[in-house]
Amino acid sequence: MKSPPKTFHVKSFGCQMNVYDGDRMAETLAEQGMTATDDASAADLVVLNTCHIREKATEKVYSDIGRIRKHALRDHGSDPMIAVAGCVAQAEGAEIVRRAHVDVVVGPQAYHNLPGLVARAARGESALDTDMPVDLKFGHLPARRRVPPSAFLTVQEGCDKFCTYCVVPYTRGAEVSRGWNQVVDEAKALVDAGAKEITLLGQNVNAWEDDGKGLHDLIAALADLPALHRIRYTTSHPNDMTQGLIEAHRDIPKLMPFLHLPVQAGSDRILAAMNRSHTRASYLRLIERVRAVRPDIAVSGDFIVGFPGESEADFADTLSLLDEVRHAQAFSFKYSPRPGTPAATMADQVAPQVMDERLQRLQTTLGRDQAAFNAATVGARCTVLMERNGKLPGQLIGKSPWLQSVHVVGDAAIGDLVDVEIAAAWPNSVTGVIVKDEGANETGQRAKLDVAA
Ligand code: SAH
Ligand code: SF4
Ligand code: F3S
Repeated sequence: MKSPPKTFHVKSFGCQMNVYDGDRMAETLAEQGMTATDDASAADLVVLNTCHIREKATEKVYSDIGRIRKHALRDHGSDPMIAVAGCVAQAEGAEIVRRAHVDVVVGPQAYHNLPGLVARAARGESALDTDMPVDLKFGHLPARRRVPPSAFLTVQEGCDKFCTYCVVPYTRGAEVSRGWNQVVDEAKALVDAGAKEITLLGQNVNAWEDDGKGLHDLIAALADLPALHRIRYTTSHPNDMTQGLIEAHRDIPKLMPFLHLPVQAGSDRILAAMNRSHTRASYLRLIERVRAVRPDIAVSGDFIVGFPGESEADFADTLSLLDEVRHAQAFSFKYSPRPGTPAATMADQVAPQVMDERLQRLQTTLGRDQAAFNAATVGARCTVLMERNGKLPGQLIGKSPWLQSVHVVGDAAIGDLVDVEIAAAWPNSVTGVIVKDEGANETGQRAKLDVAA
């Protein structure tokens, strides 16, 4: 038994959807009268909102639990209540209680029940909920109040694609879309609370649909909110990239010129073994179609090296795909076998040192392309949304339309949309200089920037 917690700390790992969920858990706990604290070791309740995507992410949960307990005891002589939420909670359930003696386990589709579970745990009762109700949690969550200038809004959850390496279909469940009205209402609440930009989130966000309407219709409706300046979406799957969504990049100025479209590998043999259900050629053709309507679009992706059976020739196909696409940025990972997925038991698992070496080559090439993209934007004028303070005095860091981090020194505040000229490029960011004259527009000057050429 523990006394009912008065203070809490939520720590999120993994993808942006987990960040969104973590914020909503915090709002739910705050509504019950609990107070958030930034110091995990001082909190009565620590919520670890976990990620199961790779082995390292999962193992981190257990080391974190140990560390939190140690610091709470050392610094405050206390033993906090620990709740494990997120994808590890869903995947491992009661195993976590057995292995780490945590107080609460709650899955990603059940966290609206967190206050009730915390109360049960305080009474010394078992508190585990990994249900995936058809009735979505969203209707049970409190209204949005304090939000950053760039806010997340989950519109779609789950995945039906079953890539052979991936746990998401098991941890998040089947593809479900939130209803049109619910999403539009939440977007309005975010804008009323100060959001200038909204990123629509989903494990397969472009699979969103409601009554025959697709993601592009939703984006068009949100673009009509006068106080909302910029719209983004992530993560999209190549097979759900509709013509309507492609054309939205031409027709909707508030939709930012950025596309995160994971491809994973460049070899058709590996793509088939991954069950990606697209080919190298169909992916490249998609990129071509998007660039035809929006030549300056920044293309991002996810890559896995060392999938079972990946030969040197297969990996060379991934590198040559990079040469063709020239990504503005990307995430790359070593393949991690996940329990229960088909790939985990495939023959020809690739040796760790081979994966290390391939990841290094891949990242060198991606670094080359990111630097080239950033360099190509030098001289461009664009609007930057200021998101946080930088390390230097008077420095702010914001995002360009192409999602570059832009460092600016000058007269501006967090939440401002500021016209800048990009003055210098670095491997992971650019430097912007505030311009006062006319001429910059929300989506950048297309004429000056044609990185696809
Ligand atoms: N739904 C998204 C991405 C979800 S997971 C999509 O399909 O594009 C984010 C990324 O993690 C994936 O794109 C993939 O590159 C990586 N990933 C997923 N499972 C992995 C595994 N078992 N090992 C290594 N990387 C993995
Ligand atoms: Fe995982 Fe594939 Fe679904 Fe993406 S599309 S979440 S990689 S199964
Ligand atoms: Fe991780 Fe779950 Fe997101 S496994 S990447 S937190 S959907």
